[in-house]
Amino acid sequence: MQKTVVLIKPDGLQRGLVGEIMHRFERKGLKLIGLKMVTMTDEMLDNWYSHHKEKDFFKELKKFMTWTPVVAMLWEGVEAIAAVRKVVGITKSREAEAGSVRGDFGMSGTQNIIHASDSLESAEKELGLIFNGDEIYDYKSDMDKLIYSEEEA
Ligand code: CMP
Repeated sequence: MQKTVVLIKPDGLQRGLVGEIMHRFERKGLKLIGLKMVTMTDEMLDNWYSHHKEKDFFKELKKFMTWTPVVAMLWEGVEAIAAVRKVVGITKSREAEAGSVRGDFGMSGTQNIIHASDSLESAEKELGLIFNGDEIYDYKSDMDKLIYSEEEA
């Protein structure tokens, strides 16, 4: 099973999309193993978005991400990183596929409602930046029997 980090960004929180977004991941069959609100700091964002540090939108991105707290979630599932990114949609919301979170609720490429880890490496890094060990829940859900075949699980 893979773990992947999702953030509902300040626009998603203020627009009241938290429940809708969580509902989509639950219905997809992903398992919620961590959940908290976090005020991102300058230091966290420098690390989180280190690959964007030289980009001209970096300052704007940091201002946006510190507008309000974010809602951080940790979801688990088979190949969860790719599955979650499909639910999220591509970066520029106005071009994102209808049916995805960004495609259904957004127009902006910056204020794009949600963030999801894009690789195993970034999932591990982001998990470490947001969640303490005791905030990650390991529990058995009987739902797995309904979601996956025995072989997949
Ligand atoms: P996210 O998936 O969190 O990854 C990096 C973020 O940078 C992205 O979502 C957007 O919020 C933001 N971003 C990406 N490209 C641009 C851009 N061209 N201009 C402004 N912000 C951007």
